[in-house]
Amino acid sequence: MSSRLPGFYRLSIAARRAQVDGTRTAPLDWTALDDGGLDAAVADHLIENVVGTYALPFALAVNFAIDGNDTLVPMAVEEPSIVAAASNAARMVRERGGFTAEVSAPIVIGQIQVVGIADVGTAARAIDRARAELLERARALLPRLVDRGGGPVDITARVLASDGPDGGVVVVHLHVDCCDAMGANLVNGLCEDLADEVAAIAGGTVGLRILSNLTDGRTVTITARVDDQALASSPDAGDGALERRAIAAASRFAELDPYRACTHNKGIMNGVDAVLLATGQDWRAVEAGAHAFACSSGRYQPLATWREDGLGLIGRLHMPLAVGTVGGALHVHRAARTALTLAGVTSARQLAAIAGAAGLATNLAALRALATDGIQRGHMALHARVVARAVGATGELVEQVASELAIAGDIKAERARLILARLTGHPIQELP
Ligand code: MEV
Repeated sequence: MSSRLPGFYRLSIAARRAQVDGTRTAPLDWTALDDGGLDAAVADHLIENVVGTYALPFALAVNFAIDGNDTLVPMAVEEPSIVAAASNAARMVRERGGFTAEVSAPIVIGQIQVVGIADVGTAARAIDRARAELLERARALLPRLVDRGGGPVDITARVLASDGPDGGVVVVHLHVDCCDAMGANLVNGLCEDLADEVAAIAGGTVGLRILSNLTDGRTVTITARVDDQALASSPDAGDGALERRAIAAASRFAELDPYRACTHNKGIMNGVDAVLLATGQDWRAVEAGAHAFACSSGRYQPLATWREDGLGLIGRLHMPLAVGTVGGALHVHRAARTALTLAGVTSARQLAAIAGAAGLATNLAALRALATDGIQRGHMALHARVVARAVGATGELVEQVASELAIAGDIKAERARLILARLTGHPIQELP
């Protein structure tokens, strides 16, 4: 299966589906993507006070090669240009072999807070001494996970305060290999089940029992190389060396300044979150973990950096990415399951690699645009289509109105209505 689908963006939705089917051994059941994959009756059992469902565009980013595998990257996102940007960056990266991913073991930390401890040093040592026995108890509480090759792998204690309003405070970390689950339910349940025993050993009272979303034991590292040639904005715009230098400088800017690093990371999360949403993941958990991780040196840092490497660039993204391919919304969300099928995902490891690669791709595309034309030109061309539709253009008229708006450099509803009226010969429609 090739993910290199030139001209995919020009096709109709039906033709895109047919082209994807042509790359598969069996055609896909696309119906889940016709109704958003979740009907109101099912949604009513998912959360409280449901009055309907809420849809987002679902798209496929093309050109991705990850660890040598061509991959269609499912994205659910409302912001124009993210899918195009990811696909363009993936095309540049594939010329140098594509993205490579290192995915750590899926270790998630559960925290049991113990308060009111008289002597925190003694408490921490007691937990240390009881480690093997507690670990055995913890593993017995998750037999199915242990059977799948995962389960609790370590127990550690951290002293947080020796005295204060909560007395002595120790937090006990349960390190759990969650296999293909995101792990929140598994780990939270384990913390609750083990808390009384842990508190008794530590000589204190149970406080909070919950996983940590700072999953610094569950990370991805994505590497990508790009040649100058691929970076050149157009065939006659030079050899790409200017773009290379500008992207490396933009990366240094993010490393020096948390105000810039935040926006740089937003560009990464554009890709990561779009994949997480499409595949039914807890993107809030990944967001929380990403930003805490970005701060782990004491100063907020970019999650991806770019360095000059001969006549090209090398990019590296390193971030926590806790995802699951079993459990969670996947039980009920047909579109999320379709997204996993489209991407050929069968493990959490693969999904983390795809989300990470999407993040590095959208970061590269953003830095290249910022370092050359600026971000507004591309954004505005796409925004023009939204404005054209908003004033009533349909079918081919959308492109015609959008391109006239873009040429005029005035992407406003008023002008769009004038253009539409001229093209159709109909009087100007009043907007509701
Ligand atoms: C916009 O959604 C994302 C960017 O601001 C990212 C960046 O500045 O690197 C373009």
